[in-house]
Amino acid sequence: MGSNEKWWKNAVVYQIYPRSFQDSDGDGIGDLRGIIQRMEYLGKLGIDAIWLSPVCKSPQADNGYDISDYQDIDPTFGTVEDMEALIKEAGKYNIRIIMDLVLNHTSNQHRWFQEARKSKDNPYHDFYVWRDGEEGVLPNDMRAIFGGSAWEWVPEIKQYYFHQFLPEQPDLNWENPQVRKEIYDMIRWWMDKGVGGFRLDVIDQIAKEPDNKITINGPKLHEFIQELSKETFQKGDLITVGEAWGADPERAKLYSNPDGSEFSMVFQFEHIGLDQQEGKDKWDLAPLPFLKLKQIFTRWQKELHNCGWNSLFWNNHDLPRIVSRWGNDKEYRVESAKMLAILLHGMQGTPYIYQGEELGMTNVQYEIEDYRDVEIHNVYKERIEAGYDRDEVMHSIHVKGRDNARTPMQWDDTENAGFTIGTPWIKVNDNYKDINAKSQVDNPNSIFNCYKTLIQLRKEYPVFVDGDFTLLLENDENIFAYRRQNTDQTIVIVCNFYGNTIDMPLAEECKNMEILLANYDNTEDMSVLRPYEARIYFSHGR
Ligand code: GLC
Repeated sequence: MGSNEKWWKNAVVYQIYPRSFQDSDGDGIGDLRGIIQRMEYLGKLGIDAIWLSPVCKSPQADNGYDISDYQDIDPTFGTVEDMEALIKEAGKYNIRIIMDLVLNHTSNQHRWFQEARKSKDNPYHDFYVWRDGEEGVLPNDMRAIFGGSAWEWVPEIKQYYFHQFLPEQPDLNWENPQVRKEIYDMIRWWMDKGVGGFRLDVIDQIAKEPDNKITINGPKLHEFIQELSKETFQKGDLITVGEAWGADPERAKLYSNPDGSEFSMVFQFEHIGLDQQEGKDKWDLAPLPFLKLKQIFTRWQKELHNCGWNSLFWNNHDLPRIVSRWGNDKEYRVESAKMLAILLHGMQGTPYIYQGEELGMTNVQYEIEDYRDVEIHNVYKERIEAGYDRDEVMHSIHVKGRDNARTPMQWDDTENAGFTIGTPWIKVNDNYKDINAKSQVDNPNSIFNCYKTLIQLRKEYPVFVDGDFTLLLENDENIFAYRRQNTDQTIVIVCNFYGNTIDMPLAEECKNMEILLANYDNTEDMSVLRPYEARIYFSHGR
């Protein structure tokens, strides 16, 4: 990479959901000391940064996405000293820590909100979004993302406040310059502690205008982000990634403008929303339109090439496990998990691995009482009340529920998968005896080692970072294949996305190329692709 390139362009980020990663004190909940204990594992994998889901002080109504003090660590996870120790320990492995900034809303237990709800002339009142009203007569019919009205009544002051998520997550009023200033001061405080970057929770919702029923992409969104970036991130050499469900490529070019005026990149979700019925929500399932998946990735790869930057991900703490979703978590679990990894990591952008993805961890099918996620319980209640068939509701939860990603990390085959010596806050997936880190780290054919190799390839072959993108076999119903090229290197990535053996139409194209990585042995036969087979071909020159 040229010396003027940003460090995060060949980096790979690993997301940790601290509650479920490693418990160090036996209370059944993961914590910062637990992450420190597992640093060697992360060093082995070879990642460059850890994105930590929120660890700040929080009543945990939404597992930490409801922050009551941005400048303190929640006792469940540890202390500010533990966070400093984590930053230091990670530094020994050249791993940077990315914090999760939840700036659209706070907890209703935050000091600002406690003050704000006292009276209309309290100095903090205008930190939140209020409308006058009468009890029972809502300002409008806007709904919250986790169910129910987006308005909550406070009888003492006869006003409603606005919340896009839970009532325990009141929305901050970004129109108020004092709010923005407090936020910038807080971010600089964390930067001074050596934090290496930030992930910005639902950042495209900060510029809401409830009177116009605008939640995402409000008119002032980019103005706010540019000020935020200038006042904070641009003062350091950080990686920043915004969560933007409403992003299209045009907007992503603003967010990831190479001039650094906003963020390094955003998470966009166009590929993620594909297996749901159009115009409905995520629980209304539909089969994956494979050709559409190819088109979407291609569009993002081409549109942002040289004028923006992609983030690459299949998984996070809100999404079901990819091997259970678009792979095969039964007989071809290993092959399909590797195929999905190869497909994604061959593209241009910064890849994100979600904890356990590198082991091929799978979804769970729990009974309703074994789930912990407030979103799951809310949709269950809403849909049963609305008369949906119970089996159908449970099926949607099994396929799409967020707790699929939140079951404890599977470290070994001992009790509770080595996650805790106490009682885990959520049940461990009972396949942990077969699927765990211990059995994979030293096995060269494991999913873990496939990810490890992908991380190394990105560092060794510049074409992974700067090559252009051409989709091959556009209308093929089984194969996802593409070519990447820079001035002196070419790679071709060929993936059989399904479980049948099929003809390999790219034998001619690849015949003089060498194999950098594959998910099967014996790749000499170029006439067929086996179930979920994936190969990376390489040659010098264009
Ligand atoms: C984001 C987070 C999710 C959280 C929500 C509200 O979508 O990823 O976990 O519940 O924002 O903060």
